[in-house]
Amino acid sequence: MTESIIGAGNPGASDGSVITRPARIAVQNVTKSYGSRRKPTLVLDTVNLEIAQGEFLCLLGPSGCGKSTLLNIIGGFLTPDSGSVTIDGRKVERPGPDRCMIFQQPALFGWLTALDNVMFGPRAQHKVDASTRDRAMSMLDTVGLAGTANKYPHQLSGGMRQRLSIARALINEPQVLLMDEPFGALDAITRGQMQEFLLNLWAEHHMTVVFVTHDVEEATLLADRVAVMAANPGRIVHLDSVDVPRPRSYDLIDSPEYSRVRMQIRRTIENGGHS
Ligand SMILES: Nc1ncnc2c1ncn2[C@@H]1O[C@H](COP(=O)(O)OP(=O)(O)OP(=O)(O)O)[C@@H](O)[C@H]1O
Ligand SMILES: [Mg+2]
Repeated sequence: MTESIIGAGNPGASDGSVITRPARIAVQNVTKSYGSRRKPTLVLDTVNLEIAQGEFLCLLGPSGCGKSTLLNIIGGFLTPDSGSVTIDGRKVERPGPDRCMIFQQPALFGWLTALDNVMFGPRAQHKVDASTRDRAMSMLDTVGLAGTANKYPHQLSGGMRQRLSIARALINEPQVLLMDEPFGALDAITRGQMQEFLLNLWAEHHMTVVFVTHDVEEATLLADRVAVMAANPGRIVHLDSVDVPRPRSYDLIDSPEYSRVRMQIRRTIENGGHS
């Protein structure tokens, strides 16, 4: 490992924005097996990870190394066999509105308009008041969908649908955004636009982000730190910070620090998880 577990976290939004509050995630000695009790398969082996308030952390690794499993445990959708996840010292035991999950395929309600999709969370939590509709409209504006409030998901492009699912998450003011290969299904151009969109969104609101990808370039472009996982059993084998100033764009992708981190990660992956 090339650095301490806790990265240089960023402070919360300085403009007093209500969108997010800072969070800190501690994954401690998490193990998880699938299969029968007689013949379990160890999928996560003693995973330890701390994520600072407002940090953007990428979980990177080959297919099947347990990235989604770990993300689901952080989200409270899965329970570890042993170990724990805490957010600001509180143990995660179930999903909660403080953590929002964004999947590769946007989870939207096809029979609801874009606006009603965004309003769904507050409605489900009985948190609708006079300002909710305006907040939902402003969320649509934030993700560049101001003109689509009355459109249905099937009338939107893939990138627009993914931005709508992000707006749907943000209205709940999550402390933590958990993203599982959110741009994996998009074409290269839309994917690049979405990466820049997410960078800008995060620069504005500084929510804590755990972003799963198997794309080294994507991880180094987006992350404060990259945690590289290896498979069989799934574990974190390398942790590196990407000390490139923000705001970032594709112009920086050939900077020496990017190249160093990319090379190191590639070497780790090629060496089967030994950095
Ligand atoms: N519900 C399940 N039952 C049994 N095995 C499972 C289950 N979910 C995942 N696995 C196994 O656990 C391992 C890790 O799966 P996981 O989905 O976490 O990997 P991943 O790193 O997200 O992979 P990918 O990049 O392909 O999405 C895999 O070997 C997978 O087959
Ligand atoms: Mg996965």
